[in-house]
Order: sequence, then structure tokens, then C-alpha cells
Amino acid sequence: MLAATVARFSPDSPLDGLEVGDRPEPEAREHWTTIDVRAATLNHHDLWSLRGVGLRAEQLPMILGTDAAGTTSDGTRVLVHGVIGADGHGVGPHERRTLLSEQYPGTLAERVAVPAHNLVPIPDDLSFEDAACLPTAWLTAYRMLFGAAGLAPGDRVLVQGAGGGVATAAVVLGAAAGLEVTVTSRSAERRERAVALGAAHAIETGGRLPERVDAVVESVGQATWAHSVRSVRPGGTIVVCGATSGDAPPAELTRVFFNEIRVQGVTMGTRDDLAALVRFVARTGVRPVVDSQVSLAQVGDGLARLDAGEQTGKIVVLP
Ligand SMILES: NC(=O)c1ccc[n+]([C@@H]2O[C@H](COP(=O)([O-])OP(=O)(O)OC[C@H]3O[C@@H](n4cnc5c(N)ncnc54)[C@H](OP(=O)(O)O)[C@@H]3O)[C@@H](O)[C@H]2O)c1
Repeated sequence: MLAATVARFSPDSPLDGLEVGDRPEPEAREHWTTIDVRAATLNHHDLWSLRGVGLRAEQLPMILGTDAAGTTSDGTRVLVHGVIGADGHGVGPHERRTLLSEQYPGTLAERVAVPAHNLVPIPDDLSFEDAACLPTAWLTAYRMLFGAAGLAPGDRVLVQGAGGGVATAAVVLGAAAGLEVTVTSRSAERRERAVALGAAHAIETGGRLPERVDAVVESVGQATWAHSVRSVRPGGTIVVCGATSGDAPPAELTRVFFNEIRVQGVTMGTRDDLAALVRFVARTGVRPVVDSQVSLAQVGDGLARLDAGEQTGKIVVLP
């Protein structure tokens, strides 16, 4: 089958280690199911894997990809929850948590095998392309807003970096849940887009907010961390899921302790979170922001776009 793999690590130029070619069919395991992938999406995780983060050389070639929408052998439309080993289903109770493409082959392929427990049905009116956006970026945004930050309708939230998959999800989900969403972006076009998606305020990166917020959705990292610490109200929460711009910002410890700010990390979410997110999307009618679509053969073009930060929303891959 056709698949996109990490063939070798290339820390400075991740696309050099990418190969798209023929790979063996997924291995059958007890309590696992093989899915025909109809759509997947690209994530920074794929670029980190190509750089050699989270993988060992003896695991190569490793098929990339952490999310998918597809069909089971009887034609049922399903989403793949990409977190393996968190609750033992299909891997035994003591296996450490990994994401697809870390320990087991990922979703940027014509077929992928996952524990049957990791499948979530797709509602009839949700396309494969939209559904595929949910299990990584959208799930993370959902858990950041409603789990880690515990936000309620009317609360204020700052979303840093308006163009990303997590950020666009946080804007759309937050607005649909009645939050007052402020976004930052370096690009005027992205700020306008964020307002069209439901943000109440859009300001330049690092700019002054109309009011301090109850929580911050932080996925940019070093470039925005100090602004996040300054923008959250005393006792508020900064939820962090990524560090695209770097992982060594000044910690701003004095402000953190003086203002009793809570810092909470999030990595994706549980299968139950994903099922709840699917219900949220079905009930409200909101849909993921899709930047573009590429075929599996063109996955390098999509990864180059993600690496350059040119996207607004998700880049969907169609095997
Ligand atoms: N923990 C998890 O489970 C999880 C899940 C999904 C993603 N992530 C992580 O979350 C991060 C976000 O990923 P993503 O795909 O949503 O979006 P992304 O491609 O990282 O882009 C997010 C935004 O970052 C901003 N940005 C990038 N470099 C910047 C800089 N130097 N200065 C200021 N702003 C900058 C851009 O904002 P502008 O609009 O200003 O250009 C961009 O729109 C990644 O690091 C990813 O690995 C983690």
C-alpha cells in the first residue's frame, strides 16, 4: 500500500527524510481493526518525527500521521482516536501512552490498524475531510478550552497565533460555546479571518488586550509566552499544547507566582473527549477550517506549507 514514512532523521530540513512509497499492509493483532483511510491531516507532530523527535533510528521506516477518518471492512464510517495505550484497550494495561506513528504505524497511508476501542462513529452529515481534522488539533483545542481551562459561556479566552489548526479550532469551538474569544496574529488577513470565524477581538501579536482573560490557549511557545503571562487575569489559566516558535522562553516566574497563574499542559484528549467533540460538532453545526487538500503522493507539498507556517486551518491528505 502507499504510505508516507520517515525514512531517516533530518533535524534541520525535515522534508529530506520523507519518503512516499510502497509499504507492507498493516499487521493484524487481536482486538485491533484495519481501517481504509479516506482522509487524514498533517500535524507538526509529523515534522517533529521527521526531525527525529520521539522516534529511535531502529524504528525506521515509520509511517507518519496521527489522525484519520475512514471505513471499517463492513463499510462503517469511523474516526480514529490516535492515542494508544492510555487505557490498555488492545495493548495490555501497562503499555505506556503513545500516539500513532510513535510506536505503531500512523495514518498517512491507504490503511492503518488501530485498537477497535479507538474507533468513534462519524455522523452522517460530517464528511471524511472534516472528520479527519477532529482527532488531533480539534480534540486538543476542545480539551484545552473545556477540560484544562474549565471555561464556561461568557468567559474570556485568548488564542495565540490565529492560523494554526489548534488555534482555528479554539476560535470556532470557543465562539460556538459562547466564549469571548480574542486572537493574536502577525497577519492582518488571518486576524480578519479569525473574526469571520467568530472571534470577538483580533489584535496584533503581542498587542494590548481590551481586558485580561480567564484563560489562554498557548500553542506558539517562545514567541508569545510572555504576552500570555501578561494577558491572563490573576488566578487564570494558561493551557499549553505546543511550542512551534521554540521552547526556551523566559519563564516569567515572578508574574506566575504573584498573580497565582495556573499553567496546564494538554496532549490531545481521551476517546470520550473525542466522542463528545463529535457530538458538539453535530449539535452546533460548526465545521473544521480546512486550509487545503493534498493527495498522499503530494504530502511533501503539504508538509512544506505547514513547516513554513503558511496555512490557515488544517491541511487534509486524501490517500
Ligand atoms: N499537545 C498536543 O496534543 C498537540 C496537538 C496538536 C498540535 N500541537 C502543537 O501545537 C502547535 C500548534 O500547531 P498548529 O498546527 O495548530 O499550528 P502552527 O502551524 O504551529 O501555527 C500556529 C500559529 O503559530 C504562530 N507562530 C508561529 N511562529 C511564530 C512566531 N515566531 N511568532 C509569533 N507567532 C508565531 C502563527 O501565528 P500567525 O498567525 O501570527 O502567523 C501560526 O498561525 C504545534 O507546536 C504542534 O506541535 C500539540
